[in-house]
Amino acid sequence: MQLIIETTPVSQLAVDALAVICFEADPDPPAVADQAGWLQEIFTAGEFSGKLYEMAILHRPQGLAAKRLAVIGGGKRASFATVEARRVAGALVRGLKGKGVHSIALVLEQADSATITAVVEGALLGAWEADKYKSDPKKNDKRIDSFALCLSASTAEAQNAFERGRTIGEAQNLTRDLVNEPANKLTPADLADAARSMASSSGLECDVLDTAAMTKLGMGALLGVAQGSSNPPFLVVIKYRPANPSGNEHLALVGKGVTFDTGGISIKPSDGMEKMKYDMAGAAAVIGAMRALAELKPAIPVTGYIPTVENMLNGNAQRPGDIVTSLAGKTIEVLNTDAEGRLILADALTYAIRNGATHLVDAATLTGAIGVALGHYNMGAFTNNEAFLARFMAAARIAGEKAWQLPMDEEYKDYLKSAFADLPNIGGRHGGSITAAWFLREFADPTPWVHLDIAATAGLDEGKAWLSKGPTGVAVRSFVELALDWTNSA
Ligand code: BES
Ligand code: MN
Ligand code: ZN
Repeated sequence: MQLIIETTPVSQLAVDALAVICFEADPDPPAVADQAGWLQEIFTAGEFSGKLYEMAILHRPQGLAAKRLAVIGGGKRASFATVEARRVAGALVRGLKGKGVHSIALVLEQADSATITAVVEGALLGAWEADKYKSDPKKNDKRIDSFALCLSASTAEAQNAFERGRTIGEAQNLTRDLVNEPANKLTPADLADAARSMASSSGLECDVLDTAAMTKLGMGALLGVAQGSSNPPFLVVIKYRPANPSGNEHLALVGKGVTFDTGGISIKPSDGMEKMKYDMAGAAAVIGAMRALAELKPAIPVTGYIPTVENMLNGNAQRPGDIVTSLAGKTIEVLNTDAEGRLILADALTYAIRNGATHLVDAATLTGAIGVALGHYNMGAFTNNEAFLARFMAAARIAGEKAWQLPMDEEYKDYLKSAFADLPNIGGRHGGSITAAWFLREFADPTPWVHLDIAATAGLDEGKAWLSKGPTGVAVRSFVELALDWTNSA
């Protein structure tokens, strides 16, 4: 989809659909777009109320070169902020595609930078569809080819905001592309290749550790998970280095990259198991974020770490009761082979710290329990450092992603007791997301660390007005914002 800043008078735009946002109880449509007073009329007649994402389409609008005039509801004017702007843009694209519309121009006039960025992101996100493997020959005919933002002036500031939206939106869609790949098309080797090719086209350095390298280092926790699969594991390291780093801090983004999670010997029920191709959504978020950061160039060095394995079962698969030795030297009793994400992350966190990370953020589709606790709307957020989490939360808020903190009281650590090793890989029945986080914390401490459990937010079972069903690309925008807004703590 082509993205354009348009400063031509809106009446002269020969697009398939000229779009305006109108608000509840206060439509106030831009006079230039509503020369015949139609918008005002459908509002007065009660045909259109302006509630969020509501749409109406008028053909052959008087006084306009556009074929259609589309109006989309912005909800209450007072509560319309960047979150709504992003979603309204997505809903507009989704609402118009497949209706013979290929070009859209949205009238925004006096938008601030944050709104411009959000609208561009929203349009890109709304255009994305999980249809790569659908052979419908008409699917390309349904695409929106161009999306223009009508601004009163194309200032340098507006252009920057616009480009930032494009970079972030495209990065998030790259993440969704990767998450959407089924496990037969995306093995750990393929995920490593995807990271490598992103890095080389973005000018980033990328190292890939293979089984031999990881064996030599002693990554027993990661290797134990991988040993049941014929597809070998990797640890991918992607490096962004600023030209002039400010300070000595170094951010590591760590993403769980399980390309398929059968559960291993502690096998999962077959119902819904196909969704476990999403178990690399954390890794894909790191790849997307690193691509955006290569373009947006934050002042802090950022390294992405992606442990990637397939959790399968063959004659060599890890057994319940096996004891593995992690890179950190701690021994782990594998009581459940389905709690594999924390095992691969443990070694990746240790490796990140040994390679200079001063701050760690991980994203992982870690526990089903996080959906029980928070539903599908908030990622779970955990930390060993409240000040660092506060910084992350501020970034997530700006990025328009929701995260909710869960407790990490010392008491919960008591759930992690092993009779035979330093720690088990599961706690009891209760507080499953918290014990998983505590397990990770044992490897992160004392480095400031934030853990995001995205198991319930990485994919949508049902499409929304602004986003199709399938992978969401969650965490990408928060990662990017955190790095861009970085100010050294010391
Ligand atoms: N990948 C799963 C978590 C998951 C569940 C992601 C549902 C997305 C949707 C993870 O590896 C897992 O299997 N976790 C177990 C942990 C349990 C064995 C302690 C779980 O949540 O059941
Ligand atoms: Mn699992
Ligand atoms: Zn998993």
